[in-house]
Amino acid sequence: MTWKKVTLTLSRPLVAGLTGAVIASTIAYKVGQQRTIHNPPQNAFPKTSTTKLTDLSSPQYCTNISKVIPEFTKLGIEVVNSKPEIEHHTGNDFTTHKPLPGQVPQYIIYPKTTEEVSQVLQICNRELIPVVPFSGGTSLEGHFHSTRLGVVLDTSKMNKILAVHDDDLDVVVQAGVNWQHLNQELEPYGLMFGTDCGPQGQISGMIATNASGINASRYGAMSANVISVTAVLADGTIVKTKQRPRKSSAGYNLTNLFIGSEGTLGVVTEAVCKVYPKPKSETVVVVQYPTILDATKSVAQVFRSGMQPTAIELLDNDMMHCLNYSGYTTRPWLEVPTIFFKIGGINDAVVEENVKVLNKITKANNAESFTYAQSKEEQEELFSARKNAFYAMYNWGKNEIDEDVRIWVTDIAVPLSRLSPVLDKVHEMIKASPFKSIILAHAGDGNFHADIFYQHEQRREVEKLVDLMIELGLANEGTATGEHGIGNAKRNFLELELGQDTIDMMRKIKLSLDPNRILNPDKVFKIDPEDKGEY
Ligand SMILES: Cc1cc2nc3c(=O)[nH]c(=O)nc-3n(C[C@H](O)[C@H](O)[C@H](O)COP(=O)(O)OP(=O)(O)OC[C@H]3O[C@@H](n4cnc5c(N)ncnc54)[C@H](O)[C@@H]3O)c2cc1C
Ligand SMILES: *[C@@H]1O[C@H](CO)[C@@H](O)[C@H](O)[C@H]1NC(C)=O
Ligand SMILES: *[C@@H]1O[C@H](CO)[C@@H](O)[C@H](O)[C@H]1NC(C)=O
Ligand SMILES: *[C@@H]1O[C@H](CO)[C@@H](O)[C@H](O)[C@H]1NC(C)=O
Ligand SMILES: *[C@@H]1O[C@H](CO)[C@@H](O)[C@H](O)[C@H]1NC(C)=O
Ligand SMILES: *[C@@H]1O[C@H](CO)[C@@H](O)[C@H](O)[C@H]1NC(C)=O
Repeated sequence: MTWKKVTLTLSRPLVAGLTGAVIASTIAYKVGQQRTIHNPPQNAFPKTSTTKLTDLSSPQYCTNISKVIPEFTKLGIEVVNSKPEIEHHTGNDFTTHKPLPGQVPQYIIYPKTTEEVSQVLQICNRELIPVVPFSGGTSLEGHFHSTRLGVVLDTSKMNKILAVHDDDLDVVVQAGVNWQHLNQELEPYGLMFGTDCGPQGQISGMIATNASGINASRYGAMSANVISVTAVLADGTIVKTKQRPRKSSAGYNLTNLFIGSEGTLGVVTEAVCKVYPKPKSETVVVVQYPTILDATKSVAQVFRSGMQPTAIELLDNDMMHCLNYSGYTTRPWLEVPTIFFKIGGINDAVVEENVKVLNKITKANNAESFTYAQSKEEQEELFSARKNAFYAMYNWGKNEIDEDVRIWVTDIAVPLSRLSPVLDKVHEMIKASPFKSIILAHAGDGNFHADIFYQHEQRREVEKLVDLMIELGLANEGTATGEHGIGNAKRNFLELELGQDTIDMMRKIKLSLDPNRILNPDKVFKIDPEDKGEY
């Protein structure tokens, strides 16, 4: 549709505004290159609350980015395109989802300040250059694949901790701060950050995926730990979502809008995050159960008792077999469902009291063994079994299945009361399939990873099994992804999980903030009616 057609169908005052906007965009495209303007009138401002995919035409992007690059360098902004840089920003080895051939970024841009991010986006928005925000590169669902020929905007060099407000229990950090580095810097204050993820993950990527690690049962996901963000919108506008107080009823909570937005709404450059005092006393308790139901029942009762363990990690019998097989821990384990509890408190007496209650609850739920760390060393030794789980399973798969074995990591979450029946069903599905699998669950959050071993040529088949598992999770009021996100790999399930209207509402928000669809195109949901979903 051309702008002329639009002017014929709309009321007069609106026409005046639209015509102005269209003229402005046309000028930006230089004389003689007038384009058909699809986006602003047709997509962004119809009188609807949602935007259906079928209402859109395909986005049009810049076809010669090289021409624009001197503009960045003139501003002193670092742009690179060496082979290793391109490779690092194309995909990672952890994910099952590889970019398609040709899905490669053209340039990598490293801004150093919020202002530079704004300058970059102003240019990219004007020239219709797709921009993929990037930080640690550890995401698992094809989140940063360059599905369109464009640039990657890497915020990892913005890695300063700007302030530690010791008494307020918050920190102000730049987008590229790594969570482990933050914890090191907080150590002297006796403080810690509540969320963890892949070792190389950074604050902005964690915000963009609503990351949550093993401590989430006590400290919550990123959504519970971000007070405010500074972000740059698609057209270069810089916004700050909140001041620094923990309480605020000041308008929309735009901080939350950026949580889980996967780089599709803006580029986060700074954040105010909550931090916590490190527990003065801590221990690890390992409990082994005859069944998963006994294990999950005791988790529910632990919560009902008012206890708040830091971590509640469930390993199934297959995972315990891998651990036992690996010999990574000196202790041999029963090969039965096992929970690793981490318990912290203000002193040893409080922790011991908690352990007593835990002992009672787990005994009442048929616990077969209850191991309680007596020293710091023993704590580490015990928890190392959980920490090394991934290496143990990989080692087992390499030895027992194939040197080139791959692992498909699912990320389903269900309400806690559904966890046990769902896991039983998942075990049945695996038994009936040609695959071996292990299950690791953040049981406190009802979130589990069925990690399925497969070989390259079995990809289609394993994908079918994974689809069935996700459908099972959804049928149990769950989600396809508890912590990793949608990326471009789970978009179909988002539709199944939330329904078309909810996705259409997300698309409306996306188009109102990024009408040219330059920010991380094709992630979370489709933005192009021609998109066949084959990523
Ligand atoms: C070994 C391993 C273990 C893991 N364990 C966990 C776990 O326990 N819990 C968990 O939640 N996840 C886990 N993950 C997944 C991953 O670490 C998280 O998804 C993490 O939040 C990604 O952060 P990142 O900095 O690597 O982001 P990236 O991979 O760089 O990007 C992730 C998303 O964020 C967007 N983004 C990046 N920077 C910005 C920015 N400045 N502004 C706006 N958007 C941006 C990107 O466009 C992309 O959509 C694990 C991954 C690995 C490899
Ligand atoms: C892209 O622009 C560069 C620099 O202006 C030019 O040298 C090159 O020929 C252009 N490429 C195409 C395909 O138009
Ligand atoms: C989890 O929290 C504990 C304190 O309860 C802390 O010692 C530990 O380092 C945290 N783990 C991670 C991975 O952040
Ligand atoms: C706004 O949302 C963020 C992220 O979900 C959350 O941490 C914060 O507490 C919320 N703020 C208010 C005032 O509700
Ligand atoms: C982030 O995750 C937490 C816990 O998993 C959840 O309660 C919250 O709703 C999520 N927030 C967003 C914005 O998805
Ligand atoms: C643990 O593994 C060892 C070595 O593979 C094996 O001999 C032992 O039987 C296993 N223990 C159990 C309880 O299965």
